[in-house]
Amino acid sequence: MTGFTIPIMVTRPLFPELSEYSENLEDIWASKWLSNGGIQHQKLEQELKSYIHAPNISLFNNGTMALMTAVQSLRLQGEVITTPFTFPATTHVLAWNNITPVFCDIDPVRLTIDPKKIERLITAKTTAILGVHVYGIPCHVEEIQRIADRHGLRVIYDAAHAFTTTYNGNPIADFGDISMFSFHPTKLFHTGEGGALVYSDPNLKERIEYLKNFGIKNEEEVLLPGINGKMGELQAAMGRKVLPLVAKEQQARKKIREQYTHLLQNTKGIQVVTLPDSATASEQYFCIRICASEFGESRDQVHERMRASNIFTRKYFYPLVSDYPCYSALPSASRDSLCQSRKAAMEVLCLPLYGLLSSSDIQTIVNVLKNGA
Ligand SMILES: Cc1ncc(COP(=O)(O)O)c(C=O)c1O
Repeated sequence: MTGFTIPIMVTRPLFPELSEYSENLEDIWASKWLSNGGIQHQKLEQELKSYIHAPNISLFNNGTMALMTAVQSLRLQGEVITTPFTFPATTHVLAWNNITPVFCDIDPVRLTIDPKKIERLITAKTTAILGVHVYGIPCHVEEIQRIADRHGLRVIYDAAHAFTTTYNGNPIADFGDISMFSFHPTKLFHTGEGGALVYSDPNLKERIEYLKNFGIKNEEEVLLPGINGKMGELQAAMGRKVLPLVAKEQQARKKIREQYTHLLQNTKGIQVVTLPDSATASEQYFCIRICASEFGESRDQVHERMRASNIFTRKYFYPLVSDYPCYSALPSASRDSLCQSRKAAMEVLCLPLYGLLSSSDIQTIVNVLKNGA
């Protein structure tokens, strides 16, 4: 068998030295404070705020809960226009808030929601647009904002993949009303499990903080039907030790991305998914598209063949969310309206990307990818 004797996964979480993490654990033990905005939480909030230049930030126990709270904080209801080319959580959050997702097709190049197709989906019930910066590729944020302003809509971004991404020189969370980051271990920066909301309006802070803590204002007042979205001290402590590792990891991943791009250029039927020049990469994923008729093998065949060589690629994002049984009966889920999303879902494949992969590992991965065809 060509390939690897040990499994190569699509990503590998950053682990700080155990002794480093233990330093923060000792502080937690001394403080006797495990949750509810403890010292680690306070420090991580400040550290992240300056790291990603966030005007306002609230930390959460995971990205999904953060997005749930974002929707609640803006009092959204009715219908929200969103992309089917995403992770289940983006859409489920709308369903859990009793909102009907309205699926809009994606731009064939960026793979993010296509602004040219948004306006025709707006009805009297529409309250917001929920875009996803998929693989850290920025949505068409200016056009989306223009549409939102014209129709009095709010804009939320699922920025789960876009930690540190910038667009036209601005931090990605400068766009829209609220952006959500996921700090799941599959993400470049993580807190074990965790997430955050970043938002420009400081007046949202109070409401978001109440919502993530059961709506509690003080011992005797509960103001809102909130939920438990709080990040705990063990998570925050992990994040504080992972954050200093992020820049080096991004450098290593950038080199790997460049090597993959070089080795795959001019390969018939393979197209590397790239960012627009005006954006900087989060280095969250390395994604290619496989055109079966030109490459000689379908994406699914390549996925299976690579698995046989112990290389575990991921079909992010197949199936489309609009094809899940819980959404497929919605009018916006109809086959004809989502052509680009459908095509992308059949072609995309994320290849392994993490700093510990050597250049000979990358060469082997590409050899396996190409030689089977
Ligand atoms: C695009 C996207 N949105 C939302 C989520 C959910 O985030 P979390 O796992 O932190 O709840 C993920 C993945 O984890 C994701 O990839």
